Amino acid sequence: MTTAPTEITVSLGERSYPILIGEGTLDALPALLTRMGVSGIVAILTDSNVEPLLGGRVAALVRDAGLREVTCVMPAGEEFKRISRVEEFTGMMLEAGLDRSSTVIALGGGVVGDVAGYTAASFMRGIRCIQIPTTIVAQVDSSVGGKTGVNHPMGKNTIGAFHQPEAVLIDMALLRTLPPRELRAGLAEVIKHGIIADSALFEHMERSVDSILAMDMEALEMPIRRSCEIKAAIVAADEREGGVRANLNYGHTFGHGIEAVTEYKRFLHGEAIALGMVCAGALGRELGLVDDAFCERQRACMEAYGLPVVWPEVPVDAVLEAMTHDKKVRAGTLKFIVANGMGSVVHRTDVTADQARRAVEALRSEG
Ligand code: GLY
Repeated sequence: MTTAPTEITVSLGERSYPILIGEGTLDALPALLTRMGVSGIVAILTDSNVEPLLGGRVAALVRDAGLREVTCVMPAGEEFKRISRVEEFTGMMLEAGLDRSSTVIALGGGVVGDVAGYTAASFMRGIRCIQIPTTIVAQVDSSVGGKTGVNHPMGKNTIGAFHQPEAVLIDMALLRTLPPRELRAGLAEVIKHGIIADSALFEHMERSVDSILAMDMEALEMPIRRSCEIKAAIVAADEREGGVRANLNYGHTFGHGIEAVTEYKRFLHGEAIALGMVCAGALGRELGLVDDAFCERQRACMEAYGLPVVWPEVPVDAVLEAMTHDKKVRAGTLKFIVANGMGSVVHRTDVTADQARRAVEALRSEG
């Protein structure tokens, strides 16, 4: 089924761009390329999971717009999100004859979006990029907002640039090929958007578990659209994360520590963020900002989506240590994003080591 796309604008003055959301929206790609005045060669940057499913179709759609294309494929997986991939993509693009007037299409999940976005940011000092996200995490979070980059052995996303896309094309139908675990993990970021900014979104997630997990597109449309609206508003207000954009990091200070100690292997990103949100809830309770009922509500919603909410053997010291290496640490101070009610968060830099420890220890038990 194809529905007319909903259009949301990320308002950044001359760099404003549209997010098109719908079912079957991919078919709107030729019209979008024409509307954006894309010319020359288009590089479709994708990975080895997505290329067999969508590479040929996207290449044909680019040709339908009267453009030439080259498709460049990287191996799928976070472990390949390295600077060498940017060099490889750049080499393929130079060989194909791309120049400063060319455009990149980032076709894939969060890893592809970040690597392709950074390749576009650095190719001949920056060319245009269109994001076509194919996973929930990428559709509701990473494709919007211009954060691009790759990992360094010493830290996640430590090489990168802000490079806003020219457009984001979200086709919800593409989610049908997602493995169930990926879908569930991606929904953690949607739940996060409800907690930080929209209690009605959170309620929808609580009410619609069965239909969302069954990929009912009507039930999924609102969470994806609201997540993009929330993210678009936050990015428009604070593109470079000087203030309110840090709200999006709810659960991430703890979650990044959890990902680091498990070497990014045990938990998917969204699963680590779910555990991180349990810690953030416990910290809010410790600080007197939320009560037991809030923590239980948050936990129950994530559990209903099959997300992890306990980790009995959590290595508390190692997680706390890893958190201090996060790139979000400034001048040795950890900033925690803490809920002070459903749909609202505050920033706290006065959290003691004991309070942070008790928040991580909350993962040991059910309550
Ligand atoms: N994923 C958080 C941000 O884009 O700021």
